[in-house]
Amino acid sequence: EKGQSLKGKHFVVTSGGTREPIDPVRFISNASSGKQGTAIAQSLLDRGAKVSFIYGASDVPPPPGADAIAVGSAQEMYEAVHQALPAEGAIFCAAVADWRPKQAGREKIKKQAGATDAPSIEMVLNPDILKSVAQLEGAARPQLVVGFAAETENLVDHARAKRQRKGCDWLLANDVSPEMGTFGGDQNKITFFRSDAPEEWDTMSKKDVADKLADAIATTFKGS
Ligand code: C5P
Repeated sequence: EKGQSLKGKHFVVTSGGTREPIDPVRFISNASSGKQGTAIAQSLLDRGAKVSFIYGASDVPPPPGADAIAVGSAQEMYEAVHQALPAEGAIFCAAVADWRPKQAGREKIKKQAGATDAPSIEMVLNPDILKSVAQLEGAARPQLVVGFAAETENLVDHARAKRQRKGCDWLLANDVSPEMGTFGGDQNKITFFRSDAPEEWDTMSKKDVADKLADAIATTFKGS
């Protein structure tokens, strides 16, 4: 069944967390195990797709068979994603830091002996990678752009608004409130938006989420 249903199609998948340097030894990052993104890349590969896998800090290795590109910061991830295009589809699973320190120290910031105050860090906005791809025009835009939304409250309203704001075609929202155990865990509970109407998926393994998504993608690309 899986077979070769996505043969000849190229997908860009982002995964893991970006790291925004404060100085050569310190960074700001987001919690992400990379498990869901890696599983999605694997499910696409299983269906015969070519996958450019652009990943930040992760607990799991990239899937064998992907064209894997390791990155650090959000800006590096942005560059790598746009380098990897064109693609038929792009799936954005990475936990990208929204902000980065305005200036990363070139040397390790010293703790002054006897200091009683701490440095403050000025932050600037990072590029929104998903939005930048969703808003590409014409042939430059992947036919299918898929985003994720990690929410802790008002999931349906926030996710619906996010899909509109980002301009992505599909959006998978997951509840990441601590009691769900999504972060770092092997299970996920998805609310899927192909339109403004939410579609509730049962709680299932991240592998099953990946397979279900890849099957929906294969159906969409059938005959194209
Ligand atoms: O805005 P928010 O971070 O909640 O959006 C989540 C979605 O956007 C995810 O698909 C994530 O990978 C993507 N994203 C991105 N670049 C950013 C921020 C988020 O690609 N700077």
